[in-house]
Amino acid sequence: MKIKFLILLLGIGLFASAQVTITNLRCEMLKNPLGIDATQPRFSWQLESSERNVAQTSYQIIVSTNEQKLKTDEGDVWNSGIVSENTSLLKNYNGKALQSTTKYFWKVKVITNKGEAQLNETAIFSTGLLNESGWKAKWIGYDKASAWDSITTWSRLSARYLRKEFQSTSAIKRATVYIAGLGMYELYINGTKIGDQVLAPNPTDYRKSFFYNTHDVTETIKKGNNAIAAVLGNGRFFTMRQNYKTYKINTFGYPKLLLQLEIEYADGSKKIIVSDKSWKLNVDGPIRTNNEYDGEEYDATKEFIGWNNAGFNDSKWLQPELVTAPAGKIRAQFSKPMKVKQTIKPVSIKKIGEGKYILDMGQNFAGWLQLQNIKGKKGDKIAMKFAESLQSNGALFTANLRDAKVTDVYTFGNSALGIEGWHPSFVYHGFRYVEISGFPGIATVNNFEGQLVYDDVETTGSFETSNQTINAIYKNAWWGIASNYKGMPIDCPQRNERQPWLGDRVIGQQGESFMFDNANLYAKWMDDIQQSQNAEGAIPDVAPAFWNYYSDDVTWPAAFITISNNLYNQFGDSKPIQKNYAAMKKWMLYMKEKYLVHDIMTKDKYGDWCVPPENLHLIHAKDSSRLTDGKLIATAYYYKLLSYMQRFAKMTGNDADAKDYAVWADNIKVAFQKTFYNPVQRSYSNNTITANLLPLYFGICPDSLKEKVFENIYNKIHVESNDHISTGLIGTQYLMRGLTEYDNTNLAFKLASNTTYPSYGYMVANGATTIWELWNGNTADPNMNSQNHVMMLGDLLTWYYENLAGIRTDKTEVGFKKIMMKPSVPDELQFVNAAYKSVYGIIKSEWKKNEQTFEWHISIPANTTATVYIPAKSLSDVLESGNVLAKAEGVSDMKWENGKAVIHIASGNYTFKSQMK
Ligand code: BGC
Repeated sequence: MKIKFLILLLGIGLFASAQVTITNLRCEMLKNPLGIDATQPRFSWQLESSERNVAQTSYQIIVSTNEQKLKTDEGDVWNSGIVSENTSLLKNYNGKALQSTTKYFWKVKVITNKGEAQLNETAIFSTGLLNESGWKAKWIGYDKASAWDSITTWSRLSARYLRKEFQSTSAIKRATVYIAGLGMYELYINGTKIGDQVLAPNPTDYRKSFFYNTHDVTETIKKGNNAIAAVLGNGRFFTMRQNYKTYKINTFGYPKLLLQLEIEYADGSKKIIVSDKSWKLNVDGPIRTNNEYDGEEYDATKEFIGWNNAGFNDSKWLQPELVTAPAGKIRAQFSKPMKVKQTIKPVSIKKIGEGKYILDMGQNFAGWLQLQNIKGKKGDKIAMKFAESLQSNGALFTANLRDAKVTDVYTFGNSALGIEGWHPSFVYHGFRYVEISGFPGIATVNNFEGQLVYDDVETTGSFETSNQTINAIYKNAWWGIASNYKGMPIDCPQRNERQPWLGDRVIGQQGESFMFDNANLYAKWMDDIQQSQNAEGAIPDVAPAFWNYYSDDVTWPAAFITISNNLYNQFGDSKPIQKNYAAMKKWMLYMKEKYLVHDIMTKDKYGDWCVPPENLHLIHAKDSSRLTDGKLIATAYYYKLLSYMQRFAKMTGNDADAKDYAVWADNIKVAFQKTFYNPVQRSYSNNTITANLLPLYFGICPDSLKEKVFENIYNKIHVESNDHISTGLIGTQYLMRGLTEYDNTNLAFKLASNTTYPSYGYMVANGATTIWELWNGNTADPNMNSQNHVMMLGDLLTWYYENLAGIRTDKTEVGFKKIMMKPSVPDELQFVNAAYKSVYGIIKSEWKKNEQTFEWHISIPANTTATVYIPAKSLSDVLESGNVLAKAEGVSDMKWENGKAVIHIASGNYTFKSQMK
């Protein structure tokens, strides 16, 4: 008894003294991932504590196939031993070779300067099929069109329904399905839909690679007779436009299925069910057509009642064909699947005719409309057409959708639509308004629900200021970015395009990475880009290359390098760089050899894409994107990319390459100055903002000229553009940071908070609920005018977080292990409240000011440190929680620098107060 009591006391004592917990265990940046195919998965964790100054001193990772053994620290596959390191990101597995289709348990033990950290969770991961030989399944499908299909410009192909029944006997220990259903699948076992992913798997260039997904179905399989069933839709595999512009549009074949169900019984025996000729197939079911541009048609009179349950009579169904495998390599999907992430209640419905209504969702977004609680007669058809805005006469504005039909049709069968309702399975739409026709009875908003669909990435940032325009733009940006995550970042979700254009994200990805945990989404995209590289080394402007655009531009493919760089900075993930360094180098060499003439990059395709058209008169050109010389843009960009390549070369042990890049860069710098700097006018090229900004921001401009060159930019904005934005996609990528770096935070703030044309706020003032493709989105030609496009965000969100909130990572200790807290404070802003869930934990910056004082709450996570820049009158004017800095716990290294108190802080929460005047 006594001993027990003592142990209990000791236990409590330990618990109390630790005060540090280990949280957020991640494997390959995912929580408890299933079916991974990394042979050396990487482990990460975070530490949490309410105390200041918590630092990890060592860790020990243990991995086991046995959960019980793990509890006693027995790692039958890996025990890292005690590793004296203070980082906790992406630690490589280094144990026995991992086995296919196996479940592993893991934990981490952490010692900190405050004692041992407490672990409350055990984590798992499981492997998929690590070798292709593990696949016993066969590809099955139906490689032809039916009489009711149409393989033309507006292609129509009915969904494929596949099913199989099987017996299961004794108690099941674990059952797992590995499925590649291309283009997209829905999976059922015994009538239950498996998983909450939608539009799965994520799209790839199927000639290069494609994904399978893994699902744990242990609970769904029962003793006796079972049915497994899948529906296949087209996705990008059987693409939206068939036999049309075939030089440009790639398609990959008819939908097909590869499925393997592995059942492990408690007695140790195993059973495998695979896709093969023993399955049954039907292509004459309820989904009559599914086309991402044109919509989905569902005819409930064609439903096969009970088809995905055991006991269904499928004697009239066909035998599927054994079909050829896609050319690409099969891989486990490591980026998150899409899901219904949020539901949206319509704000109004207006009757415009018999059975005809206009529904307003109150928000432009991408996903679909769910029909619910509707009674119809057999054969009644409800058609839904989607659009982003209305014409002045109240009808849908569809001119900007180009030839996309974006119409879903539901035909009633015998049963009414209950609360679970209906929504399409294999398409999505970008919309705010819906025209409903053929509605039986009287429609109300309760008959509809909007469902926002995007990748299952966490929203990691929150941001609020005293300025309502800045806040509204932030919100619109969130909706725009979420809408355009579709297993890859696409340009827009509504018209007949929806392509993963590289240029749109070159810098935007960085701002997005504060808002969303997009690490795996973009790591996957880096693979897509690598796979799109052709034999010569060219990288296209769209990847995966669903469209062939090998134009040898610099500024679009730059995404491969800038985003890989940011994935390392923001998330500490160096894998995209390690993995793709050779491909990046190949592209740099390809461009150099083909287009670098006398050290000037002579090839550019897009210019400063989408400058406000009013500036056209300045150059008397037809295309506003040509306002700034394309050679200047391409050369400056190529120069900048060489600096990233130097970093990557050093990281990958290619030091000789780093030296080469430095030499090329030096030569380019000289040539750039000679070619584009005009000593008479003391400006670059034709003196546009972008022409001056790139050499200034990229470090090409000599120090002695910087002041004058910045003055050119300032005058262009202040005098010529009346304090308004007037750059296109390229200039806008550096504008906010450029102005701030040159001590013009107030001008940057003006651009960010304007509500008159052209500005982000102008979009808001004109009813935008996302970000427009064009500054003049309300008046421009509808042909290229999406109302949900994020490319013009440029560096705005980066500026919100890094400059206004002042949260950024140190670039040597990446992933926010070491943080720089340095807000730029515009005169007109009274407060900023920002939080960011970094890979080390939550960082907060909440400042407010008045004429005299600046008050700032900072939180930085356990096991990180920060350098903090506090606006103040003097060092001694700064108080932390009422104490002078010298007496504040966790504060050290105080110095006075450029009108700011610069200090070092250990982890924890702090409140600083300083005198501004
Ligand atoms: C897309 C853009 C893209 C551009 C490049 C447009 O149609 O929507 O986002 O970057 O083309 O040509």
